[in-house]
Amino acid sequence: MKMTEKTETHANVECVEKELEFTALYRWQHWIRALSIVVLVITGFYIATPIISSAPNSEPTSFMYALFRSWHIIFGFVLIAVVILKSYLFIFARENKGERISFGDMLSVKTWIKQIGYYMLVSKHPKLKGVYNPLQFAAYGGFYLMILILVITGLILYVHVFHDGLSALIYIPMRFIEELVGGLAVARMLHHVTMWGVILFILVHIYLAIFNAIFGKEGGMDAIFSGLKWHKKH
Ligand code: HEM
Repeated sequence: MKMTEKTETHANVECVEKELEFTALYRWQHWIRALSIVVLVITGFYIATPIISSAPNSEPTSFMYALFRSWHIIFGFVLIAVVILKSYLFIFARENKGERISFGDMLSVKTWIKQIGYYMLVSKHPKLKGVYNPLQFAAYGGFYLMILILVITGLILYVHVFHDGLSALIYIPMRFIEELVGGLAVARMLHHVTMWGVILFILVHIYLAIFNAIFGKEGGMDAIFSGLKWHKKH
């Protein structure tokens, strides 16, 4: 969706075109996903190394570890729900066509070379048909793979700590996958190591988002808040 606005500068008239890049639903799912990942990393670190515990007392009330695990599982399911929504939007939503088109940009070697040159400050940003550059699209693919590993190994761990309802329903398939990956200890190790992959992705993601906002001058960072991206026309 394109809208054109005119803004007066000192000597010349500059024409700025704004484009809706991300819908409200898209932006909400992005930030809910970001929040759940932050909560999952914090509670996950605690589960792996419980650095604090309640003061000992004779009453059965010291359930600090269980509390952290509860929040971990609650946000684990929030993440699963949002990832299902995101996958639906990516595959079916008309407004997310730009994301699907980015797959085509990723197949062009010329675009890859230009994009890497841009990040090294030696060439201009390549013209893209979709909303993501090839490096970004490949990195997002890797990120979703890591989230999938975390979800599957998380559900394997989940059927061992909770036994009713959904857990009872998925118990047999999860135990089967547990066997396939090499046992519960391997599933737990995979869950933990993949967390570090996600942490690394987030650090690079934030760095490149700021980089694009500064050098791209198109409000690349604003788009995930307001939904709008800006193109200058002289
Ligand atoms: C970004 C996503 C996630 C991160 C960063 C994360 C991180 C972690 C970490 C670091 C641990 C501790 C592993 C250890 O003992 O070394 C853990 C345990 C666990 N996670 Fe996750 N996790 C994520 C997603 C999920 C999901 C989607 C579920 C599924 C509901 C889940 C369920 C569990 C369970 C059940 C445990 C074991 C609790 C226990 O041992 O008592 N996690 N997680």
